Amino acid sequence: MALEISTHTVTDQDTAAELGSGDLPVLATPRLINWLERLTQATAKVTIPEGQTTVGTLVKVEHLKATPVGHKVRCECSRAVSDGRRLIFHVAAFDEEDQAIAAGEIHRRVVDPDRFMARFTAQ
Ligand SMILES: CC(C)(COP(=O)(O)OP(=O)(O)OC[C@H]1O[C@@H](n2cnc3c(N)ncnc32)[C@H](O)[C@@H]1OP(=O)(O)O)[C@@H](O)C(=O)NCCC(=O)NCCS
Repeated sequence: MALEISTHTVTDQDTAAELGSGDLPVLATPRLINWLERLTQATAKVTIPEGQTTVGTLVKVEHLKATPVGHKVRCECSRAVSDGRRLIFHVAAFDEEDQAIAAGEIHRRVVDPDRFMARFTAQ
């Protein structure tokens, strides 16, 4: 399976305690999802037609293992599988010991940016 990869080091700003998603100083689930979602956005960009963009429509990610501050995380994303309307990405994240810390699926929709934003300005 072809993969896009990003690596991150967990900082004090990335913890559940800092983001308010929990009390403990470990990697926050929303930060991990953000890293994974950014990867899907970047991956989608290289395949969609010029002038189009994508928006996130579904995130289904299981956070399997806690990661403390200072540890590295590797995020991986598959190439998109398209069912016509949706782009479906399989995502996963691994810690320094190559243990899976997260796995799941993120969906995006290809949209025309002008048409997408037009409904907010139309009278
Ligand atoms: C993606 C999304 C538009 C698809 O919803 P949907 O119910 O299948 O869309 P619909 O076909 O009912 O269209 C609803 C409106 O969405 C917009 N839209 C739908 N498909 C679009 C496309 N391919 N390009 C641009 N705008 C589109 C249009 O404004 C449309 O209204 P219109 O038909 O009057 O032009 C909707 O789920 C959504 O906006 N989700 C939120 C995405 C988001 O904001 N993510 C966070 C930022 S990345």
